[in-house]
Amino acid sequence: MPPSEVTVSETPAPETGASEVGAPEVGAPETGAGFVAVADLDKLRARRVMVVKHGKKQIALFAAGPKVYACNNRCPHEGYPLSEGTLSAGSQGWGCLLTCNWHNWKFDLESGETLVGSDNLRRYPVRLEDGKVWLDLADPPPEARAEAALEGLRAAFERHDRFREYEHMTRELARFMKADGDPLEAVRQAVHWAHDRLEFGTSHAVATAADWLDLRDWKAAGDPVANLAILTEVIGHFAWDCLREPRYPYPEGRAPYEPAALVAAIEAEDEAAALAQVRGALAAGLGFAELEAPLAEAALAHYADFGHSAIFVVKTGALIERLGPAVTEPLLLALVRSLTFAFREDLIPEFRALGPALEAWPDAPPPSGSQPSGPPPRAEDFVGLAIPAALARAGEFAADPSGLHRALLGAAGWQMLHFDAAMTARNDRPVQDNVNWLDFTHAVTFGNAVGALCARHPGLWPRGLLQMACFLGRNAPYVDPDLDVADWRIDGAAAAFFDAAAARLLDHGQPEYILSGHLLKTFMAVRAETDLEGGALTREAGPRADLLAAFNRLQNTAIKRKFTLRGARQALDFVARED
Ligand code: FES
Repeated sequence: MPPSEVTVSETPAPETGASEVGAPEVGAPETGAGFVAVADLDKLRARRVMVVKHGKKQIALFAAGPKVYACNNRCPHEGYPLSEGTLSAGSQGWGCLLTCNWHNWKFDLESGETLVGSDNLRRYPVRLEDGKVWLDLADPPPEARAEAALEGLRAAFERHDRFREYEHMTRELARFMKADGDPLEAVRQAVHWAHDRLEFGTSHAVATAADWLDLRDWKAAGDPVANLAILTEVIGHFAWDCLREPRYPYPEGRAPYEPAALVAAIEAEDEAAALAQVRGALAAGLGFAELEAPLAEAALAHYADFGHSAIFVVKTGALIERLGPAVTEPLLLALVRSLTFAFREDLIPEFRALGPALEAWPDAPPPSGSQPSGPPPRAEDFVGLAIPAALARAGEFAADPSGLHRALLGAAGWQMLHFDAAMTARNDRPVQDNVNWLDFTHAVTFGNAVGALCARHPGLWPRGLLQMACFLGRNAPYVDPDLDVADWRIDGAAAAFFDAAAARLLDHGQPEYILSGHLLKTFMAVRAETDLEGGALTREAGPRADLLAAFNRLQNTAIKRKFTLRGARQALDFVARED
């Protein structure tokens, strides 16, 4: 149809209130300058509702009181025809309140506001001249449409927990991209919207964003559906992590940057001093690459936050590299805040053997190119060891950090494969036995982060490797070596397994970002360590097979996320001893 051609459909007005439109019946091309004549005014007044079509546009016309309104006939919720809606008295005292009868969304046709529902309704400027209804059908320029979509995305971002706001985010992102908006710009915006509403700094949203965008490169090229799904997951996770949170402003001070001062400030839990160092570094033109060494040192200074600190350093760097300098400052501020607040588990009795193990570690790294003496470390060397024994065993292989890393990673995979998941059904255990799948996935994702950081900063190997040993010792009581794991073994090629697993990740079905995020992080870590050129376990047949099977088991397991009886029992025990 030529752009100026208009078709009209109409039905007789109903006896009361609602107006209805039936099948199209008239084709009536007419053109005005800028505006297009789309209907006879008298006819519309008699019918009260008409639908006109122009190109791909389907427009509902409403005669209400002294006015005529025109809007997209497709409801911005799910596209049902608004011409089938109900007009009732609105803000002007006449029928300008339009209700879509499918899900009761309500639109003020006078102001354009969506009163119930979320997405904005497209309205068209109306002019009444020469007994005709004229509409300005010109579309706003792409920049204006992209801006409007970003505004809609922000609105959905702020109300993520409300019914169907996730889908609203998806629609606004689709509109943004349809208007040629750069989807990564939407992610950058989400980083800015969220970063100072994260009370304790970096959250899993950052870590999973980096991984989702990696998966997007791999699986969503040329696939608009997967692309949109991934972008919604990324932005939705940021929205969720700062939902209903106020702002927690970052202190504004700036100090001359000294790497050692940054590490010391984080160690002293002095957020203001640590952030002043970051701002000083940025003012001096430095970026994440220059700050990674002290940040990694601070992250591995303690067995911290169940491995999150090291993981967050790696993923923050990856996300900044991908999104560019526009997010360097917000992501660095959040990261340093999280490192400052991280809890330090090596200070509790369970992990106190870490300090002496570090002191006993040989100071001098092996000369470059030297061959370690003795047999190489193996994953099975660490099976069943408690924390002190695992630390001592790791120390025996100090001369071979890369080999030790492979062995520890392999052991973490073996443990995850053999996790005694029956523990999650036990309600009679004390709080220190509260273990779940994420205890085991973290041993793997932390090991992956240790490998990445220590390859670039080899002086951190002792800390990283010994903390991996802490994970193994901590999880050792909760594995069942006799578990029948044959069903989880991967028969075919790893590439086919990864393809299938990635497809399932794209449609993960998990309502909680924390779960989908851990599935994704673990998947990306397993893939990196087993399938890529240079992955630690690429050539380690047994541990590699264990890690693949472990992920296979994880992805096929329903993870218990709520422990009502266990929590109640532990609370009763706890309170009984409070006096
Ligand atoms: S389609 Fe209109 S409210 Fe759902």
